[in-house]
Amino acid sequence: MSDNNPQWNPRESKCPMQRDDFDEMRNKCPVAKSDSSKWWVFKHSDIEEILEDPETFSSDVSSHLSVPNTMDPPEHTAYRELIDHYFSEEVLSSFPDDFRAISEKLVNSAVANDCTEAMGDLGLPYAARTQCAFLGWPTDLAETLVTWTLENQQAARDQDRDRLAKLAGEFESLVQSVIEQQRNSGQKPPTLTQSLIREKIDGHRLSLEELTSIFRNWTVGEVGSLAASIGIILYYLAECPHIVDHLRQADSAEMEDVLDEILRMHGPLVANRRKATRETTIRGTTIEPGDTIYINWVSANRDEEVFGDPDTFDPDGNAENNLLYGKGIHVCPGAPLARMELRIFFKELLEQVTAIELPSKQDIEYAKYPASGFARLLVCLQ
Ligand code: HEM
Repeated sequence: MSDNNPQWNPRESKCPMQRDDFDEMRNKCPVAKSDSSKWWVFKHSDIEEILEDPETFSSDVSSHLSVPNTMDPPEHTAYRELIDHYFSEEVLSSFPDDFRAISEKLVNSAVANDCTEAMGDLGLPYAARTQCAFLGWPTDLAETLVTWTLENQQAARDQDRDRLAKLAGEFESLVQSVIEQQRNSGQKPPTLTQSLIREKIDGHRLSLEELTSIFRNWTVGEVGSLAASIGIILYYLAECPHIVDHLRQADSAEMEDVLDEILRMHGPLVANRRKATRETTIRGTTIEPGDTIYINWVSANRDEEVFGDPDTFDPDGNAENNLLYGKGIHVCPGAPLARMELRIFFKELLEQVTAIELPSKQDIEYAKYPASGFARLLVCLQ
């Protein structure tokens, strides 16, 4: 541990809401060593520089294949071209009705109860069911995805490598059986999973390992972020009813901008990693080749030097610098899908609900790293 960098342990949050720890670190120690050869970066401008220099800050951070997350150019470029098509307007236009029906059902049952636990009853099932609908997977797999996501988050929190490896193996078997079923089904029009199975890259079909990795990223990789987003937005709307009125008047584009701004103030995804390919410096701190750098999205999006008071709601003024969905070659390809899913959910909710209230702050449990947002959030929808 170097002398000028105090120890930073993302698993030992001092404040109930870990976002407050990130705020403190950004101001006290913006480049912090967390472990041997591991660095956390908290400032918006440093993170932008990292994102814009994939040669120095490689995404090749894992021994496990992750398509395209852990790839660097030129390999990354070809896979991104293939993937980006699945998030185009043309493809996404098939899903709003399904997403609306999923939202309606969940919101109906939440409204029927006095209060509801927002993560277990709304966020997680909505995220898992919409991902199943998007991929053309059977609806009953949604529950499996939720269970898997929660168990994986727990194992990651406990840093239980054996459990993580076992869960990864179980998920691989599940995805492979879905791929086999869909490969043999002649459904018309084909599901998105079937279309991906038939894709070719450099003249060859995607391997089972590549397909499994893509589906893992599009399901469990994202169920956590999407569910966290729903909890964070519900909490914000309960605290700021005037924004609810603003949302009720908004058209689709404005609504997505408002939701992006709420998620800028409290990010649903904590961090992604990079690996230094050469010796470099960040804010005067020497980073050795092979060191791992954690990009803290939640902190970057609250940097006072860029946003002034980070809690000032200003969708128009802050949109340009909002790193909610990343920036550079790894910018989130699923952003149009995530924005659409969130917009449809909250539109449905606001149509059925006149008031969102938090019955008691004691019924709130903040999520712990690597998750963000809330682990438990009781809300009353009237
Ligand atoms: C609120 C929800 C979401 C948030 C906040 C989010 C955020 C992000 C961020 C910040 C990155 C950049 C990572 C990096 O630079 O290392 C990213 C990448 C990625 N996201 Fe999302 N995402 C969300 C939803 C989704 C969805 C729904 C999908 C797909 C179904 C998706 C698929 C991906 C993939 C495949 C990458 C890697 C891209 C690459 O490496 O080129 N995301 N996401």
